[in-house]
Amino acid sequence: MSEDKRSYFSVRHDLIQVESPLAHDLYVNSSSLKDKEKFVRIFPAGGVLHKEDLENFRQKYFQLYVPEDQRKIYLRFLVKADADQVKKTTVIKNAALDYLQNIFENNKDFSTDYLSQSIEGCKEVVYAMVDVLEENSIDSLRKLIGNLSFHDFYTYDHSINVSMYCITIYKTLNPKATRRELVHAGLGGLLHDLGKIKIPTHILNNPGSLSTEEYQEIKKHPDFGLDLLVNGHCQIDPEIDLKIVARVVHEHHENFDGTGYPSKLKGREEIHLLARVCTIADFFDAITTKRAYNEILQISDAMNTMRKFRAIKLDPDIFDVFDQHVRYVRADSARDLRLSDSFDPTLPYAKLPLEEIRKFEKELDFGKIKVVDQSQPKKKA
Ligand SMILES: [Fe+2]
Ligand SMILES: [Fe+2]
Repeated sequence: MSEDKRSYFSVRHDLIQVESPLAHDLYVNSSSLKDKEKFVRIFPAGGVLHKEDLENFRQKYFQLYVPEDQRKIYLRFLVKADADQVKKTTVIKNAALDYLQNIFENNKDFSTDYLSQSIEGCKEVVYAMVDVLEENSIDSLRKLIGNLSFHDFYTYDHSINVSMYCITIYKTLNPKATRRELVHAGLGGLLHDLGKIKIPTHILNNPGSLSTEEYQEIKKHPDFGLDLLVNGHCQIDPEIDLKIVARVVHEHHENFDGTGYPSKLKGREEIHLLARVCTIADFFDAITTKRAYNEILQISDAMNTMRKFRAIKLDPDIFDVFDQHVRYVRADSARDLRLSDSFDPTLPYAKLPLEEIRKFEKELDFGKIKVVDQSQPKKKA
């Protein structure tokens, strides 16, 4: 590959291997022009970089780079690197952001080859994710996600969180899960909203004021995703069974009771296990992770609202396992929240459609409930 056609990604100085042979090349951008890049190799793969050399580089060069075609090697080093989990996960998250950005921002018109390459990259990221998250419980992952800086790219950031939750929830359900199974869970989560690349951006980024037609359009994203993965002749590493990933993508909005979309599939027999895991991950992240425009729920409120959809939208057994592993205080508060049945975690809500049921405080009224706030998502006629 000629040097000028290669692309590069930036790496942190403190996440570069020292005192043993470097697995990848190191580059700097030697162009002084703002809009131009000229990458020059300053250290070769196989060489041993000493601490002092790295310190020199740090003082001399603002940013170091690794060629994109060596990302896989870099991620493998990173998994074993002696660094804290927040740093490692941030690097993995940035790699995932790059690939998802490639997929979602390529003018919505790209070749199958391009999609295959990006999904191949996503797969490498998910392998690294599975390894880095190895020891995480659902609860420690929740805290880790809270410690990662959030980007204002709803779909990407959310997809990465869903991917990490899918891996961890599936591992909790099945502690003997193989690495390959966990990668399928993670890749399904990372790509669950893939079909959104076919939906116009103005519809996707329109919090809370969708017309019925626009909502119908959004509801096509599981079909679009399936189509891209299976009928689009996408080709990736045969170790990945794309049909399983495609089922997660296609079935993540199916409800356990058969009222979901696009196919109204029902229960364990019809909805793929990893899709049922993804539905819970998707739901939880949508209501607990802060985005630029939305409000979020405290964990106890989030779990209480999710519990109301047990066996309705959510698989009851998976939910119960999830519930047992998320730590929160089950306070019997005066506030009892319920999300409207119309809640769809795929929509960007400016205000969650919550109904608050408050118990009367006067002794005489004890036991009665009253709906004090009922906010439905605004829908244009
Ligand atoms: Fe979705
Ligand atoms: Fe989602």
